[in-house]
Amino acid sequence: MNILITGGAGYIGSHTIIELQEANHEVVVIDNLSNSSKKSLERVEEITGKKVPFFEIDIRDKEKLNELCSKNKFDCCIHFAGLKAVGESVAKPLEYYENNINGTLVLLDVLRNNNCKNIIFSSSATVYGDPAIIPITEKCPKGQCTNPYGQTKSMIEQILIDLNKADPQWNIVLLRYFNPIGAHKSGKIGDNPNGIPNNLMPYITQVAVGKRPELSVFGNDYNTHDGTGVRDYIHVVDLAQGHVKALKAINNKCGVAIYNLATGHGYSVLDVVNAFEKVNNVKIPYSIKPRRAGDIAMCYADASKAKNELGWEAKYDLEDMCRDSWNWQKLNPNGFN
Ligand code: NAD
Ligand code: WQD
Repeated sequence: MNILITGGAGYIGSHTIIELQEANHEVVVIDNLSNSSKKSLERVEEITGKKVPFFEIDIRDKEKLNELCSKNKFDCCIHFAGLKAVGESVAKPLEYYENNINGTLVLLDVLRNNNCKNIIFSSSATVYGDPAIIPITEKCPKGQCTNPYGQTKSMIEQILIDLNKADPQWNIVLLRYFNPIGAHKSGKIGDNPNGIPNNLMPYITQVAVGKRPELSVFGNDYNTHDGTGVRDYIHVVDLAQGHVKALKAINNKCGVAIYNLATGHGYSVLDVVNAFEKVNNVKIPYSIKPRRAGDIAMCYADASKAKNELGWEAKYDLEDMCRDSWNWQKLNPNGFN
């Protein structure tokens, strides 16, 4: 397939390009580089030995996007582009709604005008809010998102569902990612957050590399096996392969299809710290701090739908994720800078 990838210079997009190219798909990548570096794509080229056609285009730029889409006949779009920092979205709701929602509306309009009516969207487990069912199946009702970032994911899902209702020619796959961590085994690409990391794993690796003195563990009084928050961490390479498998749903003219991409296992913050210390033989000093606003106790998936329908399941375990995250950070203490 000839695939347009939005936000492809970012963490998950860059890993997905590798898996798509290895499966002999053609890709064209666009990104406005607001949260990424072109170097990630150079590293992808080193890994695959193939060129990655790249255009620095903002998805809100209708004219440039239309020019690109009318010159290329795309069979499908994989839409990663978006702002993703939960805390920042609370401080800057207008910027988040404008970028994520308006950007997606412009993208969809251009795709439709160029007769590309197949899209895979990066959604998130955040749409379940505080989940009504654990493990979370795709039938679990969507919940109340506690922040504008999560709202944009939930709203974009609805926009895409409405689009398919109005025009059933659209095939739409909503991939609800759980907690992606890890990095490509080469250590050439990985998660590269700006400033102080919000997410657990990049914070741990920055403590390990000596950039931060200790990890704050946000709460040890949750109703979980050790009191710390439980999440379903998934290796980013498994996640990337999930996108290749999701093309099967597009090929089968799925209409709207929703899949959790997760391992089905829940690990606590302290489980992750312990696994990281064990597999990498480094100490992670930490102290217990109050709960972080908006956090839930437990979030892990039932991932059987993707296995049964797409033939996809996660292969890597928590130790693989900890080893590969550390390998990336160790080899690139300052990310792509
Ligand atoms: P990322 O920030 O590394 O990648 C997103 C990319 O989109 C960046 O390269 C950024 O420069 C680009 N971008 C942002 N706005 C753009 C615009 N208007 N035009 C063009 N490019 C734009 O994030 P990621 O972790 O790779 O996440 C990819 C997608 O997956 C995002 O939509 C994110 O919300 C979603 N997601 C991520 C996680 C996670 O924990 N990383 C979990 C669930 C869902
Ligand atoms: C995991 C656990 C924290 C940092 C977020 C978004 C979600 C999705 C993935 C995009 C929690 C604890 C964390 C730290 C800690 N992103 N923690 N100390 O909150 O599950 O999900 O990223 O869609 O939408 O909300 O991930 O990695 O931030 O936290 O103790 O310094 O680690 O409290 O229990 P989260 P996370």
